[in-house]
Amino acid sequence: MANDDIHQAAAALRSARRVVVLTGAGISAESGVPTFRGPEGLWRKYRAEDLATPEAFARDPILVWEWYDWRRGIIAKVGPNPGHLVLARWEARFPAFTLITQNVDGLHALAGSQRLLELHGNIWKTRCPEEGRIVENRNVPLSPIPPRCAFCGGLLRPHIVWFGEGLDPGVLGEAYAASAQAEVMLVVGTSALVHPAASLPLAAAESGATIIEINPDPTPLTPYADFPLRGKAGDILPRLDAALD
Ligand code: OAD
Repeated sequence: MANDDIHQAAAALRSARRVVVLTGAGISAESGVPTFRGPEGLWRKYRAEDLATPEAFARDPILVWEWYDWRRGIIAKVGPNPGHLVLARWEARFPAFTLITQNVDGLHALAGSQRLLELHGNIWKTRCPEEGRIVENRNVPLSPIPPRCAFCGGLLRPHIVWFGEGLDPGVLGEAYAASAQAEVMLVVGTSALVHPAASLPLAAAESGATIIEINPDPTPLTPYADFPLRGKAGDILPRLDAALD
């Protein structure tokens, strides 16, 4: 990645007041969390229909919970990387900064990000489908599987948006509002194939925002990017951050 590109992107960012960042699995890849669609991606080895749909959960809740328990075990062993840490610091740097993530791994919060919109939920939370109560559960491994609601005894589910389900309208509304008002939007480590998340940068671009994409590979959003920065988030974000001063 040429330094010139980083410096031009940094110049756009330096003068911005309203900055939005959308992250995907790629930002956690360097921490050791598997992505979904790369060569080693989860959806290459597992069928989403068997593990990440309401129908799959109704059919076999133990199988679904065992799979999430395995993923929780991987995530519990790793920590935030320099990419997450830069984004946590940017919260204080820009007057209006919104971090939107598709990730459920909780690594942005561990890095120190406090204002965070988790579009697809959080793997460390359970939800009671009967009562809607959301409870944090950090036990690794989970026991028992499947976990049950301490209040009503019903089967708990992961607090994660599955295929075929809608996103929380409040969270999605905030994400759209921030994106539509952004002066600069960064899109980091997402294949930009899953909507509505992938529509957020389009809303920003339509409102005239400068779009910076950080990804080793091109995506469907690349044609809309003013600055497509090719490389790893853990490398490019610290360089972009250093170029702001
Ligand atoms: P994907 O696995 O689809 O895409 C990961 C992206 O990260 C790819 O474009 C990679 O090129 C890029 N990438 C890989 N390593 C990187 C690195 N070190 N730095 C920067 N980028 C890197 O993951 P998402 O786009 O997040 O849904 O997938 C979206 C949703 O699909 C997920 O939230 C998940 C999945 O089904 C739910 O869990 C509900």
